[in-house]
Amino acid sequence: MTTFWSWYVTILSLGTIFALTWLIFGTRKGQRQETTEETVGHSFDGIEEYDNPLPKWWFMLFVATIIFALGYLALYPGLGNWKGVLPGYNYLDNEKQTPFAAGVQIADGSMRHAGWTGVHQWEKEMARADEQYGPLFAKYAAMPIEEVAKDEQALKMGGRLFASNCSVCHGSDAKGSYGFPNLTDNEWRWGGEPETIKTTILHGRQGAMPAQGPAIGEDGVRNVAAYVLTQLAGRQLPEGVEADIEAGQKVFAGTCFACHGADGKGTPAMGAPNLTNPAAFIYGSSYAQLQQTIRYGRHGNMPAQEEFLGNDKVHLLAAYVYSLSHKAQEQ
Ligand code: HEC
Ligand code: HEC
Repeated sequence: MTTFWSWYVTILSLGTIFALTWLIFGTRKGQRQETTEETVGHSFDGIEEYDNPLPKWWFMLFVATIIFALGYLALYPGLGNWKGVLPGYNYLDNEKQTPFAAGVQIADGSMRHAGWTGVHQWEKEMARADEQYGPLFAKYAAMPIEEVAKDEQALKMGGRLFASNCSVCHGSDAKGSYGFPNLTDNEWRWGGEPETIKTTILHGRQGAMPAQGPAIGEDGVRNVAAYVLTQLAGRQLPEGVEADIEAGQKVFAGTCFACHGADGKGTPAMGAPNLTNPAAFIYGSSYAQLQQTIRYGRHGNMPAQEEFLGNDKVHLLAAYVYSLSHKAQEQ
């Protein structure tokens, strides 16, 4: 935190606490000591207020919260760059150094105890879990993905990893939704070999379908969309729509084939999808949606997981994903 923001936080926090302290003592001073039947003189919808002192217990509770707040801010980091009186928070000097769970190693080689924070707590739990499950993950990581995909316990673990890391986008049943591919259908944008799936998860994938509108014009978009819909995807044009499918084919052969292949079956190396299987289109297969895709392009983003999950967990996930579309054949 820069000095400016440190002071900003400090002054705002302490200022508020002092203002509240003044408020509670300032308004108390003018009060009578005994209870009374007199009212303070105002009336809200007929409800009036006796001019009585604050109940003592309430007043003391308020004072206690102020004392607690000041004590907390003195002991723990909370006021800008202040590290707190308690030991264990000095690592905050160096934001990159975060060996929280074990504490911080100091110059003489001994470990300094790390103070309590939610992050430390989490890191400790993660370290414990790694200790417990690490060897199991490592065992599976040493097996080929196809083998792991047949191991019931591995699939259970993979399924749990999937639920907490992947289902937000791909759905809890992994069947995908608009913009997110179905992982159970054995139709792959980037390739379905076990190692390819693992690479996809480890390093992520960026689909890049450039906008074609400017290059092929409005007629080009309409015609080539009609060509894709009727000739590749095997569907019908909506009623009343006229399009020059032959002209569309020419556009396809002149532009789209470079990525989607002459037969429209896609090029996994580029993430260009198969256009002959409309059930697997992630951006919709209606005539209007196809035009939208072709006119403006699409840029799907599968985020890389290596940094968050590490090789061993990704290995297990790859096996789980692989098993989703290979179960049926094996049984
Ligand atoms: C530079 C390579 C490239 C060219 C040229 C290209 N595409 Fe694509 N196309 C892609 C990629 C990559 C994707 C996947 C984008 C994504 O996943 O976000 C894609 C996606 C699509 C989709 C969406 C499929 C789905 O899953 O919903 C359609 C339809 C499509 N392209 C049709 C065409 C047509 C028609 C042309 C020619 C006018 C064309 N593309 C030209 C690379 C290309
Ligand atoms: C933020 C959303 C998001 C999350 C989280 C996410 N994905 Fe994806 N994933 C995508 C998108 C979008 C694509 C399609 C990329 C493209 O357009 O080519 C994709 C593609 C994939 C593919 C390639 C599918 C194919 O047809 O080749 C696999 C495999 C995959 N994801 C697995 C996973 C796994 C396993 C996880 C959990 C670790 C995960 N994804 C988490 C959005 C996500």
